[in-house]
Amino acid sequence: MPQLRLGINIDHVATIRNARKRHPLAHPDLTRAAEAAIAGGADSITFHLREDRRHVMDEDVRRLMGYLKQRAIPVNLEMAATAEMESIALKSKPHAVCLVPEKRREVTTEGGLDILRGGRKLATTVNRLAASGIRVSLFINPDLQQVAAAYASGAAAIELHTGAYCEAKGAAQKRELKRLQRAAEEAHALGLEVHAGHGLNYANTPAIAAIPEIVELNIGHFLIGEAVFIGLEHAVRRMRTIMGKART
Ligand code: PXP
Repeated sequence: MPQLRLGINIDHVATIRNARKRHPLAHPDLTRAAEAAIAGGADSITFHLREDRRHVMDEDVRRLMGYLKQRAIPVNLEMAATAEMESIALKSKPHAVCLVPEKRREVTTEGGLDILRGGRKLATTVNRLAASGIRVSLFINPDLQQVAAAYASGAAAIELHTGAYCEAKGAAQKRELKRLQRAAEEAHALGLEVHAGHGLNYANTPAIAAIPEIVELNIGHFLIGEAVFIGLEHAVRRMRTIMGKART
């Protein structure tokens, strides 16, 4: 089985910081969180610059990009496919961009992109980012039509939204897992790289990590919460161990 990479989403370190002070140098420091995640075994650092800047801010992107590039740590920038975000990505040149849908009033990214609807406009964004050397992934629900549309858009990768699987219980969760497996198989057969994320924790990750076509997981909220109790480095290391066991 190919190695499974782990990206740690540090948005909610900024959420905690902003609860007291919206300043890039205020405590807790995002670069320190990134260092701890890497020390625990993360392969990359993910953050989402939302249009309303509710957690990560523009100055954070500049600071994190400088810091992580110097240390050759890959950055995965999550963003909406807007002209403003595209221009920020083209300027800061992260290793990867994950295009996500964004609604102002949502608490988190509630569902995947509707590529069937967003079609040509999305493909233009994908192509411009890819032309500047950025690996582009599209965050989609595990739906075969969306997989086909993602492939047609020219993206190199998809990230499967695991939220419905994580929220479901019993037989419904098994059904969601099957949908993820089918979508991963189909995407892989088309030549897309397959990632997954949203709502993952120690208990629900093994079944996802065992899907052989998936090569990257992006995890945030649970591990940042867990860090309150055991520290971020340990929380990430424990997740890595769980992922490794599920893979063998
Ligand atoms: N992947 C994507 C594309 C996301 O938007 C998010 C949430 O920001 C995650 C992964 C991580 O989700 P969680 O914070 O629930 O682990």
